Amino acid sequence: MSALLDQLAALLGPTGVLTGEDMAPYAFDWRHIEDSHPVAVLRPASTDQVAAVVRLCAAAGMPLVPQGGNTGVVGGTVVRRSRPACLLNLGRLDRIRDIDPLDHSVTVEAGCILANVQAAAEAVDRIFPLSLGAEGTCTIGGNLATNAGGILTIRYGNARDLVLGLEVVLPDGRIWNGLRRLRKDNTGYDLKHLFLGAEGTLGIITAATLKLFPRPRQVETALIAVADPGAAVQLLSTIRAASSDALTAFELMPRFAIDGARQLLGRDFDPLSAPSPWYVLLEMTGGRAGSGLREATETALADALEQDLVQDAVFAETEEQRVRLWRIREGLPEIGRAVGGAVHHDVSVPVAQVPALIERGQQRLAAFMPGIRPYPFGHVADGNIHFNVARPADMAGPDYLARSKEITAIVHATVVELGGSISAEHGIGNRKREEMAALKDPVELDLMHRLKALFDPAGIMNPGKVLLSGEESGR
Ligand code: FAD
Ligand code: LAC
Ligand code: ZN
Repeated sequence: MSALLDQLAALLGPTGVLTGEDMAPYAFDWRHIEDSHPVAVLRPASTDQVAAVVRLCAAAGMPLVPQGGNTGVVGGTVVRRSRPACLLNLGRLDRIRDIDPLDHSVTVEAGCILANVQAAAEAVDRIFPLSLGAEGTCTIGGNLATNAGGILTIRYGNARDLVLGLEVVLPDGRIWNGLRRLRKDNTGYDLKHLFLGAEGTLGIITAATLKLFPRPRQVETALIAVADPGAAVQLLSTIRAASSDALTAFELMPRFAIDGARQLLGRDFDPLSAPSPWYVLLEMTGGRAGSGLREATETALADALEQDLVQDAVFAETEEQRVRLWRIREGLPEIGRAVGGAVHHDVSVPVAQVPALIERGQQRLAAFMPGIRPYPFGHVADGNIHFNVARPADMAGPDYLARSKEITAIVHATVVELGGSISAEHGIGNRKREEMAALKDPVELDLMHRLKALFDPAGIMNPGKVLLSGEESGR
């Protein structure tokens, strides 16, 4: 082991190999559900160094766990003691290699922080339309490896849809240069999609060529009070039609979540005159100012008000007001800690089934544990709900969390009943492997295992994530 670390230190220099206390900024689980114990944290600074690290570790049989900003919430970067591995942190690969506004593309290294890619695009009057609460910390490599979603997917798609080409270091140390900028390329299998969403189990993404889009000239943001999720889904349909599909974000939030976020923000402000059980935060964007977008949205909302779909609404009149509205939404992933214990879920169902999911889930949870406080929120336009469930006010956090498996079983059974998925945008990591193995079509699961064996026969790429091992699954 120390021979390998000596070789790695010779390759990466003293700041490129961290051990002991120096690993603390990297060796933790964002959700604090479990501890992480890497053998070492490796910090290469170039694709060639990543490839050399992989070759050395492969020869020594040392598994590698890729890591970007470590904001993943399913334990994808956790190293358990039972499965020794080095963390391979990509943070030093943070160059923007090329940006071409005419081509509407940018080529970035995997460790680039998402917000920096967004800023680089804006500097050339374009946008990179991936946006999520963790954007100041998460990296493009992590976004692509988890196929992140976020708040703009209704208009621009998931991370996967924003990729033109990839550069990947394979488990045998070879570099695949697939950094093509082509919008159309039907020359055989499209291999990039295998690495997108693979959570680092097939190879290490070191760079990507991404799509850029024109910068919208008009942005309208509104917080809308609705009676229930059914009204929200109806409103979604109405607004899409009335605005020529200018909708870019449509987020559902229950009052409990709004109160939690306001508490986190120091009781900030209550944007509407009276509390409502449910809210929609929507954003519309248009290509040119004065395009009539505001008027179209107002007319649609007035109609919705008449039909009783909407109770009240407020538009952000300034950028500051817009930021304040979004801050409420962005606080929601943090509420779990603030309420002293919550069980988190990231699920999807067909959009039209969201009301049934929320209603059935809430009823079943209430029957299971009186006083339990579900606060389902999120990307309703994608059918993607974060069905989070807070402890009853009078129950101790640890007692509540001890029941988390039963709570998850209730939520996930409801999702499966409605034809949904137990992971919409966060991935599988080391938390949902058993459930995925139980739920997936056996043929699909078999193909996944074969792909893993083909790319990574020695099993050194993020072992213990996404798929069960042969021993665990009895294969
Ligand atoms: P990490 O956490 O470092 O890694 C995530 C996974 O990707 C791990 O399995 C890791 O091994 C692998 N990986 C990382 N880099 C590479 C690489 N270069 N090559 C191969 N594999 C790699 N997610 C959403 O989808 N939508 C949201 O709206 C959203 N909001 C969030 C809000 C908050 C406040 C937080 C904390 C998280 C949120 N997330 C969201 C989850 C998380 O931010 C995303 O999954 C993000 O894409 C992870 O990026 P990262 O760089 O932090 O990856
Ligand atoms: C969000 C994260 C949790 O949507 O995905 O806030
Ligand atoms: Zn989300």
